Amino acid sequence: MRIAPGGTIGILGGGQLGRMLAQAAGKLGYRTVIFTPEEDSPASQVADETIVAPYKREEALKAFADKVDVMTYEFENIPQQTVLFASKDKPVHPSLQALKTSQNRLDEKSYLNRIGVPTTPFAAVQLLDDLVGEAPLLGFPCVLKTQRGGYDGKGQVLIRERTDMGRAYAQMLGQSCIIEAFVEFTRELSIVCVRGQSGAIQFYPVVENEHRDHILFRTTAPALISERMEQRAQTIATKIAEGLDYIGVLTVELFETVDGGLLVNETAPRVHNSGHWTIEGARTSQFENHIRAICGLPLGPTTQTHRAVMTNLIGDDIEQVADWQAQPSTFVHLYGKAEARPGRKMGHVTQVFPLDD
Ligand SMILES: Nc1ncnc2c1ncn2[C@@H]1O[C@H](COP(=O)(O)OP(=O)(O)O)[C@@H](O)[C@H]1O
Ligand SMILES: [Mg+2]
Repeated sequence: MRIAPGGTIGILGGGQLGRMLAQAAGKLGYRTVIFTPEEDSPASQVADETIVAPYKREEALKAFADKVDVMTYEFENIPQQTVLFASKDKPVHPSLQALKTSQNRLDEKSYLNRIGVPTTPFAAVQLLDDLVGEAPLLGFPCVLKTQRGGYDGKGQVLIRERTDMGRAYAQMLGQSCIIEAFVEFTRELSIVCVRGQSGAIQFYPVVENEHRDHILFRTTAPALISERMEQRAQTIATKIAEGLDYIGVLTVELFETVDGGLLVNETAPRVHNSGHWTIEGARTSQFENHIRAICGLPLGPTTQTHRAVMTNLIGDDIEQVADWQAQPSTFVHLYGKAEARPGRKMGHVTQVFPLDD
């Protein structure tokens, strides 16, 4: 369905991704309404309107759906019931199916393997006995993760050896988990793609991601990889998106293995931190392309215009903002968060360079 400019886009979630989506929507001539439980959220500061209510409050969701022409979400831990309820009234992109698949690490990795996309070996863990049975088969070290709710490294613990299993299991507080073989990756990469309502799909170049304390610290675009590996990443992203009849921006986080292979770490049914560089470094940003896709407009070109390095401003990093602002060819984005807590993403900076540098 095509939503013409002048229409209204509903965004579930009020974080920085919602903020940058609302900014892109405004540029294209759309109005935005944010639905978030948080007062004065980063997204609400730039949107036309906000409904502040818990995600499960049905009257508020109904009021939200009534105001908008199409809905999207900016993070994957939105309750499924929220999207199901809202989608009775108005279209939601990406679909509930896409959201469900990425919300649960076991469902996600099972889906990927079913469609022939490689991941690290894994097994489901409900009981300590499952862990004790499965972990030695995967080998040590291995990583225990909650199936749901994890982000920025939360809800996961590294098991170095057999004797760590009891303590690791106890940390998960009885939640359903997945145990994964540890990947000795050489680099972490990601690919951001966008699929439109016609089924057309376009890719941003594969980028390289560096994490600190499990939080994305820096993205370099493009990653220096072979044409063959670029193709392989595109093939993987296409399989995932087509299998879900996906509409919008989809991100695939990848591990490059020692033998030059690619494994999928996880997928995100949304715009992604590793795609922020596209605001200044590509013809069309990931945010604009997500809005174009969900509104049924033609996709914008994803061609890279500048080499780019994106650095997150996390917690106290915000104190260096004046130094960044004084740098040439450097674009500072702040998210309007009042308080800088450790691990909190306060903003990001993109430095651009000529492509052939
Ligand atoms: N199986 C694994 N092997 C090696 N490193 C891992 C593995 N799983 C996660 N990591 C590391 O932890 C980071 C966060 O894990 P991820 O599964 O992406 O969860 P989150 O939802 O928190 O981003 C990854 O980017 C990677 O650096
Ligand atoms: Mg991740």
